[in-house]
Amino acid sequence: MPSISVKEFLFWKKIQLSKGGDYQSFALLLDSVGGISNSDLNLSRINSGDNLYLRKDLDFLESIWKDHLLNSTPIQYLCGITFWRDLKLKVTKKVLIPRPETELIVDIVLNIFRKKSEKLFFAELGTGSGAISIALALAYPLSEGVATDINQEALEIAIKNFVNSSKKSNLKFYCGNWWSPLESFKGKLDFAISNPPYIPRDTYEKLPKEVKNFEPKVALLGGEDGLKHIREIIQKAPLFLKENGWLILENHFDQSEEVKQLLIKNKFTSIEILKDLSGIGRFTIGRYK
Ligand SMILES: C[S@@+](CC[C@H](N)C(=O)[O-])C[C@H]1O[C@@H](n2cnc3c(N)ncnc32)[C@H](O)[C@@H]1O
Repeated sequence: MPSISVKEFLFWKKIQLSKGGDYQSFALLLDSVGGISNSDLNLSRINSGDNLYLRKDLDFLESIWKDHLLNSTPIQYLCGITFWRDLKLKVTKKVLIPRPETELIVDIVLNIFRKKSEKLFFAELGTGSGAISIALALAYPLSEGVATDINQEALEIAIKNFVNSSKKSNLKFYCGNWWSPLESFKGKLDFAISNPPYIPRDTYEKLPKEVKNFEPKVALLGGEDGLKHIREIIQKAPLFLKENGWLILENHFDQSEEVKQLLIKNKFTSIEILKDLSGIGRFTIGRYK
């Protein structure tokens, strides 16, 4: 295990950060690859005469940082890890890196179903890394969830993440197009949740290269107008939800009104547009009666 004095390490860290990038990304690299957490670093500042023990040597860490800065490769893919809510999740280029704004979708559910002891049955469509479903399966330990994705390789990551995060088996994974793997659960869901691909084609073409060149197109592109998948999910949802069951969707920053109209057209009620932390109408929810 490579060891280095705290003083030398802090000097090296300052040089790396002076090359560019943000502190949070560098902290993820140090923690997930170097084995040095923020609290290790804070402690080492207090005991500045000590040595730090790294999981990988500085040259290796530096080469990853260089790749991140030169090629705009997301640090999460280079490290193979991301932190989301209180979860530590494995990520590869087969899955979207779960976004901080999506964290709120779990709070929306927690706000609707306030008793953690509820025995709910829920579905997540397009689970990717599994982030949303895993958070929900942990939050409602007596509930059962089913999570789907069209991409089998993404599901394999989600399954690993669930096994790493929970000792329970209250979440099952199915591969297929939106609702199609869930035929046997018609009329049984208390709620369904999805953060589907919703980027319109012209916006997709102009995405920053750290997104467009690395994250899966199938996780981002929502057809010409961005609403292709949302339309399909809303139209078929009434077949799968229980009476009064909820549909909870994330959408692009400017799609809430259109999503609301789609919900109305498909006979949903109690429709609400909920804002993310930047004040953007990011989530649209409704009940099927
Ligand atoms: C925006 S990502 C969301 C991933 C994850 N739920 C999250 O919030 O980070 C959309 C997910 O939908 C999946 N997907 C795309 N088209 C699909 C389809 N036709 N049926 C099922 N899943 C699909 C993608 O593979 C991707 O994992």
